[in-house]
Amino acid sequence: MADTDSRTGTTYANLDVLRWLEKTHAGHDAGLQRAFDAPTRHAMPAIQVGPAEGKLLELFVRLVGARKVVEIGTLAGYSAIHLARALPELGALWSFELDPRHVQVARDNLQAAGLDARARVLEGPALDRLAEIEREGPFDVVFVDADKERYDAYGRWAARHTRPGGLLLGDNAFFFGKLLDDTPGARAMRRFHEEAREHYDTVCIPTPDGLLLGIRR
Ligand SMILES: C[S@@+](CC[C@H](N)C(=O)[O-])C[C@H]1O[C@@H](n2cnc3c(N)ncnc32)[C@H](O)[C@@H]1O
Repeated sequence: MADTDSRTGTTYANLDVLRWLEKTHAGHDAGLQRAFDAPTRHAMPAIQVGPAEGKLLELFVRLVGARKVVEIGTLAGYSAIHLARALPELGALWSFELDPRHVQVARDNLQAAGLDARARVLEGPALDRLAEIEREGPFDVVFVDADKERYDAYGRWAARHTRPGGLLLGDNAFFFGKLLDDTPGARAMRRFHEEAREHYDTVCIPTPDGLLLGIRR
């Protein structure tokens, strides 16, 4: 009998297996748990990545020896904690967030996790603020997880500012199962996929809502 995860709506053969695997490979310490619970505690949308995806992001950052990481879409800082933890002492994460309330919650969570020196949350529409960090580039990893209608623009920015061998990561790459619809969001997400293929070696990992992975040529 199939089980549905109430948080993501994804159906699994056995939800107990998923929970056991999350606990075994992607368990939370206090900092991660605080950030994971924060959206519910602060009446924000609980749309953060899942524990296994968060750990996957962390391992990708370590795999490429990243020192400079950009995140677009911070929410409460859950994925930001994963990304920042994978960085070396002098590494840096710049995370962009539109909603001032989310920014405050994320900053508090990053501070509680002891990562505020390494992770900076920039408030405002990402496309208006990305230029401010371009002098810090090229970047090793860009993780896109914000407004879907602008994924194509974020992807173009990433391609211009990621070093060869660096990574593009894009969450919700299945666009909630509506990737092939004729809507502005679906069209932008398809362009994100197609344009990524021009600059990166790509694959779409079948996480609950798809994670695009590209290695910059
Ligand atoms: C899916 S959540 C990010 C989840 C986070 N990456 C995590 O897994 O913990 C998307 C976030 O993007 C933010 N956002 C939406 N449009 C944005 C924009 N134009 N610029 C920056 N952030 C934006 C939303 O306010 C929301 O907090």
